Amino acid sequence: MRWYAEMGVDEMVGASPSDMTQWAAEEKTALSAPAPAKKNGQAAIQTPPSKSGPPAADEAIQAAERAAAAATNFAELEAAVRDFEGCGLKSGARNTVFADGVAGAPLLVIGEAPGRDEDRIGRPFVGRAGALLDRMLAAIEVSRETNALISNVIYWRPPGNRTPTQTETMVCRPFVDQLIAITQPKAILLVGGAPLQALFGVTGIMRARGRWRELAAGGATIPALPTFHPAYLLRQPAQKRLAWQDLQNLRDRLFAS
Ligand code: URA
Repeated sequence: MRWYAEMGVDEMVGASPSDMTQWAAEEKTALSAPAPAKKNGQAAIQTPPSKSGPPAADEAIQAAERAAAAATNFAELEAAVRDFEGCGLKSGARNTVFADGVAGAPLLVIGEAPGRDEDRIGRPFVGRAGALLDRMLAAIEVSRETNALISNVIYWRPPGNRTPTQTETMVCRPFVDQLIAITQPKAILLVGGAPLQALFGVTGIMRARGRWRELAAGGATIPALPTFHPAYLLRQPAQKRLAWQDLQNLRDRLFAS
């Protein structure tokens, strides 16, 4: 049972029935639906979905864009994420997990999605991987108490820790972009392949790690460094050597005057 729990299998029956054989087809249909017509530069008002449940992908992405754009500071953005009903993951999660640390800190760390411990507590990176992340950051004199903000590209725990779908990632993305635009960090650390793919559309963390990329946000260009996810490092401790190189690289950029 412990092994199952560690692998993320902690529920046998979902809250509502779902035909898993149709998941891939439904997602494809939702993503290829035509964009709604715009009137005077404003998105036309959408007909609400006829059945209850999360809205269609396009509609949800547009709602996220509007909610994120309306937020002008960190507190407003956090409230907007908590109030948002457009992501299907929310109904199965205990908590919205938005961010932890110092808003406006020089470092923004972005991970994938909350796991079981994060969902229970409501803060990102509080489980075993989070403890390793905290130790990694401490090695370069960074902490969520003093000079870092920690968040994810997904704000609700996917059931059984499954990989978030493309739709779920696209729905959360406007909030991630607005978090970067509002907090204007000096550097971003992308932990694992998920934030790399969500923000740059790039797959392959093995090849991408350790190389700076540039992200445009809020009129500024912000350097972002992909590195390994701490959960991966717990499974593959030999890779910590490369992660340490990345951290030193980050420290040099972060503390350069
Ligand atoms: N892994 C993540 O990517 N994010 C968390 O918040 C916890 C574990």
